[in-house]
Order: sequence, then C-alpha cells, then structure tokens
Amino acid sequence: MPQWSVAAPWRILQVAAGVTAPLLSAHSPPHIGPMAQASFPNLTVLTHPLIAHKLSILRDRDTSTRDFKQLVSEISTLMAYEVTKDLATEPVEIETPLERMTGRQVSGKKLTLVPILRAGLGMVEGIAQLIPSARVGHIGLYRDHDTLRPVDYYFKIPAAEVERDFFVLDPMLATGGSAVAAVAALREAGARTVRFLCLVAAPEGVKRMLEAHPDVPIYTASLDRQLNEHGYILPGLGDAGDRLFGTR
Ligand code: PRP
Ligand code: URA
Repeated sequence: MPQWSVAAPWRILQVAAGVTAPLLSAHSPPHIGPMAQASFPNLTVLTHPLIAHKLSILRDRDTSTRDFKQLVSEISTLMAYEVTKDLATEPVEIETPLERMTGRQVSGKKLTLVPILRAGLGMVEGIAQLIPSARVGHIGLYRDHDTLRPVDYYFKIPAAEVERDFFVLDPMLATGGSAVAAVAALREAGARTVRFLCLVAAPEGVKRMLEAHPDVPIYTASLDRQLNEHGYILPGLGDAGDRLFGTR
C-alpha cells in the first residue's frame, strides 16, 4: 500500500487543491500548490533550485557529518536571503570614490537569531554571514524519546533586546512541540516579532504551530509527508542533531 494512503496530510492537501494526476511517487515530498498552501497560511516553502538540490544531498543517508554541517549552513544562507526579502530599507547618503549618492540600507529593528539546541546551532553561521550584525540567543530543548514532549534546559537571549525581530532556528519541525515551546519562551521574555526557520517540516508540526502561534510565519525548505510512529519525519533526513554532531 502506498504510504500516502495511510495518513498522508499532504496528499489530503493535494486533493483539496485539486491535484489529481500525476500522483507523486510514494516517497516524494509534495509540491504544494497555491490552494493547499492556503490550508497553512503560516507556511512558506522555499523552492529555490539550489535549496532543493542541497537538501537532497543533505537527506542522503551516506552524506558525511562534515558535508552535512556544510550543507545545513549553505541552505540556511540561501533561506535567509529569501526570508529577509521584505526587510524595510531607508535612504543613506554615501560617498563613492567619484561622487556623493543616496544608497539604501536596511532600516528599523535589528535581528536576533535563536537556535534551538542542538541542531539549530548548525543554521547560525550561514545566516550570520549575510547578517553579521545579528545577535544570537540560545534555547536548550530536547525531545523526550518516549513522550516526544520537549524538555527545556537552557534559555538565554541578549539582554534588553526584545524589540528586535527574532528568527528561531531548528532544522526539524516534527510534532511541533519544541517549536511551540521555544516561541512561547520567547514570548514570555517579551519578544513580539518572531519567525521560525526550518529545513524540513511535517504537516503535524505546521498545524500545531498554526494553532499555538498563528502569527509566527514558518519558512521551510520542504514540507514532508508525515511523521512515523516514533515522531520522525518521513522522508525526512533522520536525527538532525546526531547527523550534525556525529553522535548517535
Ligand atoms: C530535534 C530537532 C528539534 C526537535 C523537533 O531535536 O532538532 O528540536 O527534535 O521535534 P518536535 O517538533 O517533535 O519537537 P532533539 O530533541 O533530537 O534534540 P537535539 O537537537 O539535542 O538532538
Ligand atoms: N527530530 C529530528 O532530528 N528528526 C526528525 O525527523 C524528527 C525530530
């Protein structure tokens, strides 16, 4: 039996969007059409060819820890380029070697990157390369293997920075428990503007975020099919933290 016929939320989304043929193969991540996208108004799937290409290598079970780390960083840079395309700019007077001119600079609030430990750490450097002025906070959470509920062990964001825009970073949005808890902790600390960036999302996690934090936009490189019985994303890429740090 094809896996999508069991409980594939993305297949339901495809049907809702009028996608009837050709059917995707049992293991292909979906291409979500505009109507299906409307079911998750909080979600933007970034489909740049370079992101898709690098994500395919990342998913490959034979990709080494070194390459995995490099790819997470590169995909994060590409995502940051897309996610920041609505940043406000303002005029700035500059002197070129030849004459004076009015250029543009990013205006308004500065950014704070908040990786969810551990795997979110892999996304920081790639984004900071584009936005070197970004501050970095940290949220320590791990998912209990049996209950799949997040257990928190660390929270530190730059002092007096709650007016900033926060980008919460985690490669994986699975049940959504960790993402919901991280955003709730940031909100508790006073953060108002929050976006969530991940590499692979499950429909279950996107839905949970929509219910808990409807005002937090989610950006992902892929909306995958579903979770398995252990809460792992299918097809996914396995345990992001373990693959990033070479643990098991
Ligand atoms: C992974 C991942 C997310 C979480 C996602 O972390 O990096 O933080 O699981 O799952 P959820 O959406 O069901 O909460 P993990 O708990 O494995 O911790 P680690 O990064 O320290 O390995
Ligand atoms: N966390 C991961 O690292 N991978 C998954 O597939 C789900 C949660």
